[in-house]
Amino acid sequence: MLFFKKKIPLTDFFTDGFVDIHSHLLPGIDDGAKDMDTSIALLLKMASFGIKNFITTPHVLGSVYPNSSEVIKQKLAAVKKELEKREIKDISIQAAAEYMLDGEFSALLDQKDILVLKDNYILVEMSYFSAPINLYELLFKIQLKGYKPVLAHPERYNFYHTDFKSYYKLKQAGCLFQLNLLSLTDQYGKGVQKTSEKLLKENLYDFVGTDTHHQNHLELLPKIGTKKTLAKIKHLLNNNKKFLS
Ligand SMILES: [Fe+2]
Repeated sequence: MLFFKKKIPLTDFFTDGFVDIHSHLLPGIDDGAKDMDTSIALLLKMASFGIKNFITTPHVLGSVYPNSSEVIKQKLAAVKKELEKREIKDISIQAAAEYMLDGEFSALLDQKDILVLKDNYILVEMSYFSAPINLYELLFKIQLKGYKPVLAHPERYNFYHTDFKSYYKLKQAGCLFQLNLLSLTDQYGKGVQKTSEKLLKENLYDFVGTDTHHQNHLELLPKIGTKKTLAKIKHLLNNNKKFLS
């Protein structure tokens, strides 16, 4: 037992080719990094954990974060330029988005104005209070348009905790699942932690992400660093390598 509780560094988790597919690292466009210095500081801290490849995913959320593809691309270009200016060469960053499943998103789908993670995978989320009424229609439409939906942090939707069969229904509807690594700690509450353990046990996850918004998330991340956790999610960490460009 002692063997499994042993703390290990995050560099054992994030080996060469790992890509973080969920984070909020572009400056000043959502509730993540507030300015360029913060963006760079977060990237450097994550690189110290072994995370060197990023597809960062700012929120696209109605009038709260109405980020157009154009704005996201401009911000990404600015970050790339800053990395170059600071001669930081071992970090590779691309951008997609975390799309709220709502009416605005449906319109973007119609226009095919979608930023994909890679190979037509798109990161989507829903409200923490309830699923959209047309959830399954939206999931169908996404796939009809040729995209593959990856649902961000399914374990964080509390309304599913007592309705576990819905997770199977979502998977059956073609939804892939992305685990937030901090869900394995008590950061988002015990219910989220327990549900993530159950989803892991039932092998329902496909990918992982850090969902980094700020330094505090990165202070907490080493808490997942045990041999036991690594053994449980190693296959998912490997799956993320498919997003390497
Ligand atoms: Fe997120």
